[in-house]
Amino acid sequence: MPTLTIFSSVPDQAAPSVPDAGSRPIPAVLGADLQVPVKGGRLVGYANLDYAASAPCLEPVNAAVAAALPAYSSVHRGAGYASQLTTARYEQARHTVRAFVGARPDDAVIFTRNTTDATNLLARCLPAGTTTVVFDTEHHASLLPWPKSVRLAPPAFPGEAVRAADEALAGIDGPKLLVVTAASNVTGELWPIAALAHIAHRHGARILVDAAQLVPHRRLNLTALDLDYVAFSGHKLYAPFGAGVLVGRGDWLAEGEPYLKGGGAVRTVGDVAEWHDDPEPRHEAGTPNVLGAIALAAACDALTATGWTALVREEERLLARLRSGLASVEGVRELALWGDDHPRVGIVSFTVAGYPAREVAEALSSEYGIGVRDGKFCAHPFVRHLLEAPDGGGSGRDHENDGGCADGTASAVRASIGIGTTQEHVDRLIEALRDLVSR
Ligand SMILES: Cc1ncc(COP(=O)(O)O)c(C=O)c1O
Repeated sequence: MPTLTIFSSVPDQAAPSVPDAGSRPIPAVLGADLQVPVKGGRLVGYANLDYAASAPCLEPVNAAVAAALPAYSSVHRGAGYASQLTTARYEQARHTVRAFVGARPDDAVIFTRNTTDATNLLARCLPAGTTTVVFDTEHHASLLPWPKSVRLAPPAFPGEAVRAADEALAGIDGPKLLVVTAASNVTGELWPIAALAHIAHRHGARILVDAAQLVPHRRLNLTALDLDYVAFSGHKLYAPFGAGVLVGRGDWLAEGEPYLKGGGAVRTVGDVAEWHDDPEPRHEAGTPNVLGAIALAAACDALTATGWTALVREEERLLARLRSGLASVEGVRELALWGDDHPRVGIVSFTVAGYPAREVAEALSSEYGIGVRDGKFCAHPFVRHLLEAPDGGGSGRDHENDGGCADGTASAVRASIGIGTTQEHVDRLIEALRDLVSR
């Protein structure tokens, strides 16, 4: 199809070319000096290489929570000064998130518990009969919530993703939603979300972008990319206080059943309840996680103040070192869908020939003080696909604790980096792997 050839090479970047206003030094994270025990009883500095699961807390996030706590009080329901202050901080957090993702003025910003909660919220608000188109490469949070879905095989290259979405959407009548992750939690690879948004809209569909692994690493501009919805979690964005968000078009959300039924979502209650049709109160019944929202917003502010140019430059330097180091260790194979040169964030999954992933992860922890993740990273179909590739090299069994996502088959190890990662952490991982495979 000639109109699609423009999408067949390198994908669009999630960050459009808007000037980068930040200029503050990269903030520190809490726990940078954490000492952990290793075999023999020694203590070593913890090398946290598990940011894609949950990132450590930024110091400015900690400070924002500490500043809010002395006046902490009820939200949206108190006349007292502390209640008003807490309510103002909560609503300010909403504005901050709106600006952080470049949302349209009339987009809803709904605080949720996490990304999984956000995708499930949207799933409950889909117009009747909506068909969702989703790739098998998705995290379970974006793969599973949909009442009716068409699943697409992992595409061989970015243009194939656009072509497959185009074909699938063309064959669907009625309301449709395309769901795609902006940056893979398995390979770190960036997806061509602007091109996918374009295709979705050409077919009268909407697009939800799972930005859980993008926003800690790259600027996202929902308006410039013409996305309908984005979802992400605070705990991956250096704000470990249990909040996430769904941002996007208000109409489906205003029509959908209130996510939780109770105070805050209801306008009046007589014999029947009259619900708010403003999506934010409608879907935020009960007392919200105000500290989570404040923390999430503080993380957005801290990243913006630092500026993406500096953040991306440092991450790319460490990621290049990590990837070339892994490639130099015999038997270590990086998992990738779209090849070595495809743009990606600081997430690398790999296998070690002959060594079960769990054993590798345990040895890294107990002998070297390195924290990584092993398993299938709650992306079973995708990891299985990568491991079954001729050079996938999957070995060992899932352990039972893979975020509740173990299925007892071969799995991989994942190292992920971010603010606070040092060159020593990266080098220690490479040397530890070299040591392990030489035994
Ligand atoms: C791409 C992606 N989407 C969704 C999720 C789910 O996030 P949460 O556990 O915060 O709901 C994750 C978490 O690993 C993820 O990496």
